[in-house]
Amino acid sequence: MRKILIVGATSAIAEATARLFAAEGDRLFLAGRDPGRLQVIADDLKVRGADRVATAAFDAQDYDSHAPLVDAAARALDGLDTVLIAHGTLPDQKACEASFATAREAFEINALSVVSLLTPIANRFEAQGQGTIAVMSSVAGDRGRQSNYVYGAAKGCLNVFLEGLAHRLAKAKVAVLTVKPGFVDTPMTAAFPKGALWASPAQVANDVHRAIARRKRVLYTPRFWRWIMWVIRSVPTGVFHRTKL
Ligand SMILES: NC(=O)c1ccc[n+]([C@@H]2O[C@H](COP(=O)([O-])OP(=O)(O)OC[C@H]3O[C@@H](n4cnc5c(N)ncnc54)[C@H](OP(=O)(O)O)[C@@H]3O)[C@@H](O)[C@H]2O)c1
Repeated sequence: MRKILIVGATSAIAEATARLFAAEGDRLFLAGRDPGRLQVIADDLKVRGADRVATAAFDAQDYDSHAPLVDAAARALDGLDTVLIAHGTLPDQKACEASFATAREAFEINALSVVSLLTPIANRFEAQGQGTIAVMSSVAGDRGRQSNYVYGAAKGCLNVFLEGLAHRLAKAKVAVLTVKPGFVDTPMTAAFPKGALWASPAQVANDVHRAIARRKRVLYTPRFWRWIMWVIRSVPTGVFHRTKL
């Protein structure tokens, strides 16, 4: 039985992943900013088999609350061995270009808050000599594109941070998983037209759940995104600048 902290637990992908943890009898601590919704999810996860479910408030930009949140999770679960960080926002690119305040908020929520959370989490796991950290990044972090480079830059920042963290924690037997989903049909992308490349939260959750169990380093989900991003990264700059991507 794992003792799992899920940050951004009201995210559609996080909720679908939590159902898989619950079915295995894991112990869960759900952090999010909507207490009513968290309670509904917690009640559902108990019915689905979770050993224990506790909840707590989480605000990505309230950095001082992050270390106490991690301590509270460890107390409530009688230990902590797995963390899934799933909160995030998809900012409007044009609004970010017009206003540094908007771009900064996007960076704070998508990147800095994760660094803030991972500082006490990494130190705890390093000291206990075991643990698994999984973070929802994005394929958007693989190459800067005019249509969403502020979001992409925040996720790209996470990718390098997590790569270094994985390097640091390897000798402590702590696994660090960077999850790079493509298009997923969730509230975050509600306004987008859907097509063949789109996945459901349940599909992505299955991949995340398996990758955590296998202690993988990087997960593209669905898997074909590894090849799509390989092609996108390989396009020469001169050609890339003529595309509308
Ligand atoms: N959907 C996609 O196509 C896609 C693709 C690549 C990567 N991702 C990443 O996958 C992760 C999960 O996203 P999702 O698709 O499941 O979207 P979602 O259902 O819209 O979930 C977003 C989550 O972030 C939380 N959140 C947003 N701002 C917050 C803040 N300031 N403080 C605390 N929590 C905050 C939301 O809380 P509330 O419920 O209270 O709003 C919600 O739990 C994100 O990191 C996202 O960047 C998604």
